[in-house]
Amino acid sequence: MKPLLIALEGIDGSGITTHARLLAERLRGLGIHAVYEKEPSSGPVGRLIRSALGGQEPLLARSEVLALLFAADRFTHLYGCLYSAAGSCVMGHLSRGAAVVMDRYKYSSIAYQSSRQPGLGAAPRQWVSLVNAYAPPPHILVYIDVPVDVALERIAERSHRELTETREALAAVKEAFEEIVEQLAREPEHCPSGEPVAPWERLLDELAPGLRQRLYPPRACYPLTVARVSGVDSSGKPRSIEEVSRDIMDVVASLVS
Ligand code: TYD
Repeated sequence: MKPLLIALEGIDGSGITTHARLLAERLRGLGIHAVYEKEPSSGPVGRLIRSALGGQEPLLARSEVLALLFAADRFTHLYGCLYSAAGSCVMGHLSRGAAVVMDRYKYSSIAYQSSRQPGLGAAPRQWVSLVNAYAPPPHILVYIDVPVDVALERIAERSHRELTETREALAAVKEAFEEIVEQLAREPEHCPSGEPVAPWERLLDELAPGLRQRLYPPRACYPLTVARVSGVDSSGKPRSIEEVSRDIMDVVASLVS
């Protein structure tokens, strides 16, 4: 089977976790080997990030530091099992031909760590992209678009809160996501040459020879499939989980068939 990397992104309260899980389930229903993966991960750096976001590690709660921690967590989550042979990792799943559904990916870093968060500061967007150069482009990026008010209502129903879950912070992240999605939809994200050029291409050739060509068979350019799925209807009312999930499945189904 052809490996497929799918990323779901959006602001807190947009329903990414629900929809990433559902998408993996639906793909399995079609007989596709699909795996759900979450960032921050459950690994050591992911746990550190959670304590920083929960306010227990104030020295780490700066956008510049968080950007590096998220990039480190992403690196080990992507490649860990290829260099330490312990546990599973995203590249391990892809090498077995899985469709990996990522509940957040590098675009969360680019949006969150580059937008001004009260008390956390902001890191330059280009620099955040650069420290994520080991994360390959996904084949599909689904951005779940919900208004800040709807997201805040959902967050208010949860038991745990994070430093970034304020109206001001979410509005800044939403604006950043919109700019990123718009830019990605305009530009080809990946144009593989025969030789590995990007840091992720070189690393993959070293750790899992052949996987790079299976992920992106050499040809001119891969415009990233970017889908913006609205979580609300035209009157601003939240759409049902089923409706949103069907939209997401429509985008993905066209690429897996
Ligand atoms: P989490 O409790 O996993 O929330 P969610 O279910 O919304 O993903 O917390 C993850 C938080 O970390 C969320 O506020 C988004 C943020 N985040 C970043 O700031 N940068 C990143 O690179 C990632 C992956 C997440």
